[in-house]
Amino acid sequence: MYSSSIFEGNLHDFADQEPQRAPIGIFDSGVGGLTVLRQLYRQLPNESIIYFGDTARVPYGIRSKAEIIQFMREILTWMEKQGVKMVVMACNTSSALALETVSEEFSLPILDIILPGARAAVQQGRRIGVIATPATAKSNAYKHAILEIDPNVQVWQVGCPEFVPLIEQNRIHDPYTAEVARAYLEPLLEKEIDTLVHGCTHYPHLTPVLRSLLSSQVQLIDPAVHVVAACAQELDLLGLRNTHPPLPTRFAVSGCPQQFSQSGLQWLGYTPMVEEVCFTDTAISQLQ
Ligand code: DGL
Repeated sequence: MYSSSIFEGNLHDFADQEPQRAPIGIFDSGVGGLTVLRQLYRQLPNESIIYFGDTARVPYGIRSKAEIIQFMREILTWMEKQGVKMVVMACNTSSALALETVSEEFSLPILDIILPGARAAVQQGRRIGVIATPATAKSNAYKHAILEIDPNVQVWQVGCPEFVPLIEQNRIHDPYTAEVARAYLEPLLEKEIDTLVHGCTHYPHLTPVLRSLLSSQVQLIDPAVHVVAACAQELDLLGLRNTHPPLPTRFAVSGCPQQFSQSGLQWLGYTPMVEEVCFTDTAISQLQ
């Protein structure tokens, strides 16, 4: 099912003999999950991590639920094969569309990013704006999660189809990106939001642009901070926290490793070594 070189059969011994030392798996469609990875480095510096970016199939935010579920099955099967002890969904679109289905199919603990983000939002504000991919916005996953926690707050969501391609193309400081951001924020500013949730893990990369368009009264919520805090709690609960020094982070992508490695530098501060992983060629080629 896969072609992968150095990753096969390496961390399984840890998983079998000392499960605490097994890595945490995180994945996204591309560079968005790096915002979660940075939080893992900050909050859980002893954990070894495997990062997967599905760059051959980015963006996820315009895909159907059936496609996302199929991608999740492939990624989680691969993660399981790498011997990970836990998976953090560093992708809101996957959490919104596929988590419920796939979490029943895998015995791994799989952490959702939306609920921790929703909890943090209601702690901050009463008039909450959510910017997300079109698929996440359409699913109403944030709205439902927020209103379930506190039915007295108000929530408005905006799908932002142009953001992920602009971020993946590294056009963050392009004036066009600021124009697009202004248009997406306009309906939320009209509602006088006091809190804005990054409902896609790519968007914290845009914080300087968004911040320049928002009043200082508006709190920005990055769910990455909160999903990693939830991950720490879960590790403690399961007795899986690593106390040994971590292994270097391993990176794998389904697209071009060199391209990911180059864009990784600016977000990580080092140039990651990146491996290519191919899931079933038919699954990828059928969808492109
Ligand atoms: N970063 C992901 C998310 O949080 C996926 C974005 C995309 O590929 O459209 O939704």
